Amino acid sequence: MAEQTVSKDLEDVKIEDDRVDPWKVECNSLKGIDYDKLIKTFGSSKIDQALIDRIEKITGKPVHPLLRRGIFFSHRDLNIILDLYEKNQPFYLYTGRGPSSESLHMGHLIPFIFTKWLQDTFDVPLIIQLTDDEKFLWKDLTVEESNRLAFENAKDIIACGFNKDKTFIFSDIDYISSSKAFYVQMLKIQKCVNLNQSCKIFGFDETSFIGKISFPAIQAATAFSAAFPQIFNGKTNVPCLIPCAIDQDPYFRLTRDIAPRLNAHKPSLIHSGFIPALQGATTKMSGSVATSSIFLTDTPKQIKTKINKYAFSGGRDTIEEHREKGGDYTVDISYKYLTFFLEDDEELEQIRQDYSSGKLLTGELKQKTIKIIQGIVADHQERRKNVTDEVVKEFMSIRKLAFEY
Ligand code: TRP
Repeated sequence: MAEQTVSKDLEDVKIEDDRVDPWKVECNSLKGIDYDKLIKTFGSSKIDQALIDRIEKITGKPVHPLLRRGIFFSHRDLNIILDLYEKNQPFYLYTGRGPSSESLHMGHLIPFIFTKWLQDTFDVPLIIQLTDDEKFLWKDLTVEESNRLAFENAKDIIACGFNKDKTFIFSDIDYISSSKAFYVQMLKIQKCVNLNQSCKIFGFDETSFIGKISFPAIQAATAFSAAFPQIFNGKTNVPCLIPCAIDQDPYFRLTRDIAPRLNAHKPSLIHSGFIPALQGATTKMSGSVATSSIFLTDTPKQIKTKINKYAFSGGRDTIEEHREKGGDYTVDISYKYLTFFLEDDEELEQIRQDYSSGKLLTGELKQKTIKIIQGIVADHQERRKNVTDEVVKEFMSIRKLAFEY
């Protein structure tokens, strides 16, 4: 087994002012979450220039803008995965989504856009878990409804462009009921974690449904190749890299902690931050707050109205003052969205300079952001139209992928 960092995964994680966990993301600065501080409290590692240089060197191509711009900013044991890639040894990618709403918002796209880049770059199998069971337990949803939402969300995920021969998407409710291997993996994990640990990591207490308390074993099981014999030909020790937003880290701190006891590799992780709410970077876009989010189903007009009306601006009160003092891009939501979605580095830098100097007005900046986001959403809607129920079924059927083990 490759050498792995000494387990610091389960040390107490305490957050004083910013709150980042699977259920809430909140901070008190309009500049957004202090991600450097989060790395320290979580005990993960910063993605620094040296690591980015290494990725570019071994893949022979520039890294994705989301990585270059620090939106994917933290990792655990990413070097182990890069070592494997250099030695031509196998690993797989695992990401997921909790299907709690009919339509996704722009923030939901980020991990999938980046995961597609990872899949294209490293050419490895990808497993996408849809936790319809999780949403049944946590939300006011029936089993049937959350299972249906999993299929609907799969369409948006597939529309990101994943390769069908190399990607397995599953709903927990469906896969667990037909895979002995997955259930066995869950069981083994359930025997490694006691009530006290589950409560401490996730904040459960004696009033929590017992389904919630054992749910982490389900999200953890997907990080072990033993749960997918059809893909890995029964190989139980294929290492895994998980791209995810950093609020999911508690699940994987737990997973990494127990992995050695199951004689398996600790999964590696690559973490993103959050796309801020329209109203400002103190919270993230949230599907349950309609005016905080731009949905993938929004019309061009809705996108325009939302950005013009709600996007928090770093501009000044009057044009004269703005021209004189310039805008504050560090709190400006339209600018922040451009850092996620405008591909051209030079153009982005020009916008930053012009906004800061006062040459570019808030209205003009918003105009640019509206155009870019309208384009991305329209392209997505076009691709989603082609994702039929038939295509979804193919991605979700239990099968071998285009890799030999
Ligand atoms: N719990 C996640 C959510 O609510 C879904 C999920 C399952 C996930 N497995 C994952 C997310 C792995 C990222 C990586 O959205």
